[in-house]
Amino acid sequence: MREPVVVGNWKMHTTLVEARALAEGVRDGCRGLTGVRVVLCPPFTALGAVSQVLAGSAIQAGAQDCHWATQGAYTGAVSPAQIVDAGARTVIVGHSERRAIFGETDEMVGQKVAAALAAGLVPLVCVGETGAERAAGRTNAVVERQVRAALQDRSAEEIGRAWLAYEPVWAIGTWQAATPAQAAEVHARLREIVAELATSSVAQRCPILYGGSLKPDSAPALFAEADVDGGLVGGASLKAVDFVEIVRAAPSAKGRTGSPIH
Ligand code: PGA
Repeated sequence: MREPVVVGNWKMHTTLVEARALAEGVRDGCRGLTGVRVVLCPPFTALGAVSQVLAGSAIQAGAQDCHWATQGAYTGAVSPAQIVDAGARTVIVGHSERRAIFGETDEMVGQKVAAALAAGLVPLVCVGETGAERAAGRTNAVVERQVRAALQDRSAEEIGRAWLAYEPVWAIGTWQAATPAQAAEVHARLREIVAELATSSVAQRCPILYGGSLKPDSAPALFAEADVDGGLVGGASLKAVDFVEIVRAAPSAKGRTGSPIH
């Protein structure tokens, strides 16, 4: 049975003081909770500080993006090795804001996935269609293209270390999450594609998270879908109480008790 995963994506929010306080709030709010894996992705400026706050807890730090090179003349970029050095274990790759605002292509996403895996990071690969693409009936075609570009050159062993997130672009930051049925359909298709690219046992183990306006009230029904293995949370991850409520919904929806950590 897959352990659910809930990831907070703080985007370009928080000063150092705010980041430490938010990480402490989540860490303390999740104390004693099991049956769910939790990752916090602060901005790069706070990654080291948040890693320190989380040290010794079950919560991990993650980054929001990485470059594909190990080092070099790439002004403003951060390498996977530098992310590991700052204490992170996960990196979000191919977020729709990176694709739309920063011109990231499917090819770049594939390079980033390869580099993250080579550095020992878990790449959390984001895919999702725009509202226009959904209206045109192209949802499956778009997410298929994105996931294949991200993973097709990787071995089954490497794909087994990756996580996916289905994030419909029209649902991000809009207060309008996908319905559980909409998410379930795409997640099931994504799992089939992972099985084609790797093996069915890799696909069965792969966490496929939902993202896009996840809130404490929308999370339980989405997490109750068999192929929805948790969530990638933006706006609601900036308030510790809301985020912790979403985290708690994941093991409950999966029938995991959330017993105390010893
Ligand atoms: P949101 O963002 O929860 O604010 O919609 C999700 C994301 O972009 O990962």
